[in-house]
Amino acid sequence: MDMNQITRLISPHVPLPEEEVRELLQYPPNPEMGDVALPCFTLAKLMKRSPQQIAQSLADAIEHPAIRAEAAGPYLNFKLDRAGFAEALIRAAASGQFWHVPAERPERIIIDMSSPNIAKPFGIGHLRSTMIGNAVSRILREIGHDTVNVNHLGDWGTQFGKMIAAYMRWGDTVDLEQQPIKGYLQLYVQFHDEAERNPQLEEEARSWFQRLEAGDEQATSLWRSFIAESMREFNKLYERLGVSFNHVLGESFYNDKMDAVVQQLAEQSLLEDSDGAKVVRLEEQGMPPCLILKSDGTSIYATRDLATALYRHREMGGDRLLYVVGGEQTLHFRQVFQVLKKMGCDWAEQCRHIPFGLMRLKGQKMSTRRGQVVFLEDVLNEAVDKALVKIEQKNPSLHNKRQIAEAIGLGAVVFGDLKNSRTLDIDFSLEEMLNFDGETGPYLQYTYARTASILRKAEAGLHAATGGLGSTPSDDDSSASASRTDASPAVDTSTSPLPQMDYSQAENPYAWALITTLNHYPERLLQAAERYEPSVLARYLLDLAQGFNRYYHHVKVLSGQPSEVRMKLELVSLVSQVLRRGLHLLGLATPEEI
Ligand code: ARG
Repeated sequence: MDMNQITRLISPHVPLPEEEVRELLQYPPNPEMGDVALPCFTLAKLMKRSPQQIAQSLADAIEHPAIRAEAAGPYLNFKLDRAGFAEALIRAAASGQFWHVPAERPERIIIDMSSPNIAKPFGIGHLRSTMIGNAVSRILREIGHDTVNVNHLGDWGTQFGKMIAAYMRWGDTVDLEQQPIKGYLQLYVQFHDEAERNPQLEEEARSWFQRLEAGDEQATSLWRSFIAESMREFNKLYERLGVSFNHVLGESFYNDKMDAVVQQLAEQSLLEDSDGAKVVRLEEQGMPPCLILKSDGTSIYATRDLATALYRHREMGGDRLLYVVGGEQTLHFRQVFQVLKKMGCDWAEQCRHIPFGLMRLKGQKMSTRRGQVVFLEDVLNEAVDKALVKIEQKNPSLHNKRQIAEAIGLGAVVFGDLKNSRTLDIDFSLEEMLNFDGETGPYLQYTYARTASILRKAEAGLHAATGGLGSTPSDDDSSASASRTDASPAVDTSTSPLPQMDYSQAENPYAWALITTLNHYPERLLQAAERYEPSVLARYLLDLAQGFNRYYHHVKVLSGQPSEVRMKLELVSLVSQVLRRGLHLLGLATPEEI
């Protein structure tokens, strides 16, 4: 029972197609007014009557056993039969129907995400690309798309000439064994320092890059070792964060695929000269020209992205290409997509840049400038240490404190990244992100653990009373794809003589508020998918956790008649399942105990 059902009740009485009726429906700010409202202003214009008259005549015309329609001035309010509604929701969850929110048209979606640069620190910007990409990918997969995660490593470019030159000169002065990236950064910084005084260095770098491009053995093997060492570090982070890729293909993979692009552009007469360089003009689209070949004949970032897009469409079979990359590259992607269109690729309509804002540390941009870098690994470690201190204070007797601190610390950072609309800049404060009472990951994880503990307690009680057991959430929290589609309510009646479910518990205002919030889950999941916006799901989970904590505060879940307890536990179980699924979709772990 949802907005769609109410839409179908209204539609026969108004001169609007169903989708448009659906668009008009709202949730009233105060549940006392009703559960769903139809403002009648739009209809008034169409039907040339006052909104009050329309509300009244619809109220008279609509009949349904579990839904009451009442006019309130220009609004038509719908009040649901709470017990009936709750029953329908619980049955839909038990049958799995509630969890399956299919996309209208499943597609293969290629997601460019993470994409850090070899021999450079994995910074906070790449964390954002990684975690937003991961969440978008999991959400799209959850609604039935075939997602392909691609890590487009920055493994090519003139900077590798510099790296090799620096390595040849000072490689033995840095420790590449323990912390390769910090070593590379040191070499890189030293190169720039010394190159200011000694222009010879730039010359060396250029010549090393030429050798690399020509396939020279020594240059290639050094370059390969930079990649291997960097990946060793990056993979540690990916493992910690629970992120995986279907393909890890560096920019260098497209080296031999760019000539074809340049040739096609030339054949289609799209290439023009500009001071010795070749460009595609985009004046009509109101953009500066897209640079395809530099005056020295070398190709650049855009050319590579053209080759990449063609590959992802043709070879990987992508129907839709997403690029989870910082907002500063907006123009680049607009240009690339526009050039694709000019090349006759109609599928370029399905290419999307999914930009995100900066993450700032106390107002300062985090960047690689002159080696002043914030290493993600250090940030994560600090978050975990702080989480451990909190856990020691809150629950000193907890088992696996380290492991749980890891889940909470990372949860804090990841949720801090995802909870705001992605294009906003974030001011990074570990203290705030770790607040167990704020709008944080740990707050949600803690709420989940609370639901799990109630269910454990109840199960133990049931065991004692009946020997039966309920299908309370399992302790497997390894991945989001292990999402559960329980075929039975939390407490299984088929195997044990359990009480009936007293659906009238839904009349309680706290229970009802919680039920309506639970009911919004599929809708919010779809919205998050449509907008590529994990924050929609993150915000929803915060609402749900708040609703649950209010409920828990006011309603004694484990006391009352058995049929009442059973219904109340069912709600706890649903909250638990939604939190667990939702948090996994966002990339957070859900410890059963905190
Ligand atoms: N490596 C680039 C950077 O760190 C991001 C690459 C994004 N993906 C792409 N296809 N251009 O800025």
